[in-house]
Amino acid sequence: MSPGPEWLRVPEDVNALVPVLWPAHVTRAGHGALTVGGLRVDDLAAEFGTPLYVLDEADMRARCGAFRAAFGGAGSATADQSGGAGSATADQSGGPEPGGVYYAGKAFLCRAVVKIIAEEGLSLDVCSGGELAVALSAGMPPARIGLHGNNKSVEELARAVDAGVGRIVVDSLDEIERLSAIARARPGTRPAVLLRLTVGVEAHTHEFIATAHEDQKFGLSVAGGAAARAVDKIIGEDVLDLRGFHSHIGSQIFDTGGFELAARRVVGLLAAVRDTHGVTLPELDLGGGFGIAYTTQDRPATPAELAAGIRAAVAAECAAARLAVPRLSVEPGRAIIGPAMFTLYRVGTVKEVAGLRTYVSVDGGMSDNIRSALYGAAYSATVAGRRSPAAPMLARVVGKHCESGDILVKDEFLPADTRPGDLLAVPGTGAYGRSMASNYNHVPRPAVIAVADRRARVIVRRETEDDLLALDVG
Ligand SMILES: Cc1ncc(COP(=O)(O)O)c(C=O)c1O
Repeated sequence: MSPGPEWLRVPEDVNALVPVLWPAHVTRAGHGALTVGGLRVDDLAAEFGTPLYVLDEADMRARCGAFRAAFGGAGSATADQSGGAGSATADQSGGPEPGGVYYAGKAFLCRAVVKIIAEEGLSLDVCSGGELAVALSAGMPPARIGLHGNNKSVEELARAVDAGVGRIVVDSLDEIERLSAIARARPGTRPAVLLRLTVGVEAHTHEFIATAHEDQKFGLSVAGGAAARAVDKIIGEDVLDLRGFHSHIGSQIFDTGGFELAARRVVGLLAAVRDTHGVTLPELDLGGGFGIAYTTQDRPATPAELAAGIRAAVAAECAAARLAVPRLSVEPGRAIIGPAMFTLYRVGTVKEVAGLRTYVSVDGGMSDNIRSALYGAAYSATVAGRRSPAAPMLARVVGKHCESGDILVKDEFLPADTRPGDLLAVPGTGAYGRSMASNYNHVPRPAVIAVADRRARVIVRRETEDDLLALDVG
């Protein structure tokens, strides 16, 4: 058997599940098949087909609850910096103070997820007219929606204003003009806005770069002065209500160092605004990007640990600047939905490349999870329908697409008897899997099911070839 990459150890038991990788209610039962919420995955595959995204709904709700407890829920009082939980039901009207935790809908959005987010007392971040439409159609209180985007169209902005979304995160000088014109055309309307800043911090996984990354499309530069000019412009527009600043520094971040530095720079600008304009802005949104475990190498911080680190940094900076601590918001996407889902595939072919590895081809691929092909993301996998007595073999899990880069799991130890017909499960696929899925090779996109209380329900149905043909009008 070939050795794996340095970080990948040959497992003692190839059937074992490492808890941090799997939703809380996934186990390998006595019969050998994985179960989720008490249901066997082989039964789910038989009923719903493969590939299949499977959401452990109770796991997702628990993650929402942990973030809400750590950062506060929608409708928490402005003064509540204690991290007290917002009520899951008290704020269905929308409430005067959205925020606390905005679930980043770009990670995965459908109506069932919107309902869970609303019920769990979180707010919702959307970044397109389509995401806004899904949110509104599922009954998300508009005041608990924040709208993002570096190039929102006039129509998207107008729709958001007319719907009464709680926050619009303004991303450019052009947008300030566009939004002001929309507000002016609607007397009595004064949209609440946050200004998206570029703070010169870029964070990915365990590393962050503190003095780089001004060179990007999002936000207005603090160091370069564009942010201060945008503040002048917004404050000069009495039809816009500037509530504070927004910063998002990256993705898959495991420690709070990058957020702390971002907070320092943002609080610096809050103090400058107070000194220049005599205005104390009450809100600060530090974005998302909290890391999750995709492989056994990853050790994510808990929401409570993240909140403690970030709050301490914000409080210290504010004390130094003699500023009241602003209401803090965050926008986790991946950390809420990512670990709550896994994808179930059926193995189609197995090919051994002597002395190197074994290629295990499944019935999905880069069309249902582009992250490995797009940015080399690492995942893990396990044979899901049975327990295997075989020794581990180094495998690469690949899809069915016409691309040699169609890799789902680059390196994993699977049982040496992995064979066509086996079910394979890949954990951690809830974020940016279905939401970035494509129809490459005219492969229909998989269904999403939610499992809770020993019941499975389809929340996004499987696409069919008829769906594909329906768009192709000849
Ligand atoms: C502005 C903003 N907020 C939140 C997120 C969510 O990030 P994550 O899913 O990594 O938490 C993103 C992701 O790109 C983002 O751009």
